[in-house]
Amino acid sequence: MNEFKTNFTLTKKIDHIAFIMDGNGRWAKAHNRPRTYGHKVGCDRLIDVFEYCKVFHIKYMSFYAFSTENWKRPKSEISQLFKYLEIFFKKEIDHLMRDGVKIIISGDISPLPSKTQKTIKEALVKTHANDKYFFNICLNYGSRDEIIKATKEISALVKDNRISIDEIDNQLFNKHLYTSEMPDVDLLIRTSGEERLSNFLLYQSAYAEFVFPKVHWPDFTFDVFISCLQEFEGRNRRFGGIKNEK
Ligand code: IPE
Ligand code: IPE
Ligand code: MG
Repeated sequence: MNEFKTNFTLTKKIDHIAFIMDGNGRWAKAHNRPRTYGHKVGCDRLIDVFEYCKVFHIKYMSFYAFSTENWKRPKSEISQLFKYLEIFFKKEIDHLMRDGVKIIISGDISPLPSKTQKTIKEALVKTHANDKYFFNICLNYGSRDEIIKATKEISALVKDNRISIDEIDNQLFNKHLYTSEMPDVDLLIRTSGEERLSNFLLYQSAYAEFVFPKVHWPDFTFDVFISCLQEFEGRNRRFGGIKNEK
């Protein structure tokens, strides 16, 4: 049990929920604080949102923490953000372990500070065998890079005669994505009112429903989460067919 309670019943199944945690900077500005303070509060939100998802037994979660394009930001903002992420992993690892969470990192973390990498790698090793929840943090992640990486790996297999071109299908392609252990995204939530993907899970979100709450990420409360689920509940997912989903 956790502190988050609701009368709302979700009847539609959500296997994989994905979050674009946007608006930290604007939230900080509105509170007359530096952008980095927004990242601090934003990182503190992460564990709450994990708890929100648990209430609805959502097994797979993805969080966009840093994009391949975010390197365009000032160095000081970037290093502070990595510091807060490092603190998150250190502080919450026992909590995540207790809940049987497997941490997955999508993206190339090799350009990150060595201390951050070390903390992340320890969390990966520690949670490796868990399978109750999958907590995917997208860090230095870009969907286009991910698709190109998969294409290169598959091309190498063909070149070495380990597979034939005819064997390349969605199932095989999926095996070469960072999210190979996860199903497709059912619901994608982007906070802050922006309505775009910004290079996030393009392949995995082919049939996702999108919800764009107006609040900034640090203000993403349980009530806002419920309102997003209610919007999802009202959607008619058809996957190209003509009938309502079951
Ligand atoms: C999201 O908040 C966090 C990251 C992209 C790392 P932003 O930092 O993008 O906040 P805004 O969009 O400038 O308000
Ligand atoms: C997307 O947000 C990346 C993350 C939330 C980590 P951005 O704030 O970087 O996206 P744009 O630049 O507004 O599209
Ligand atoms: Mg932003």
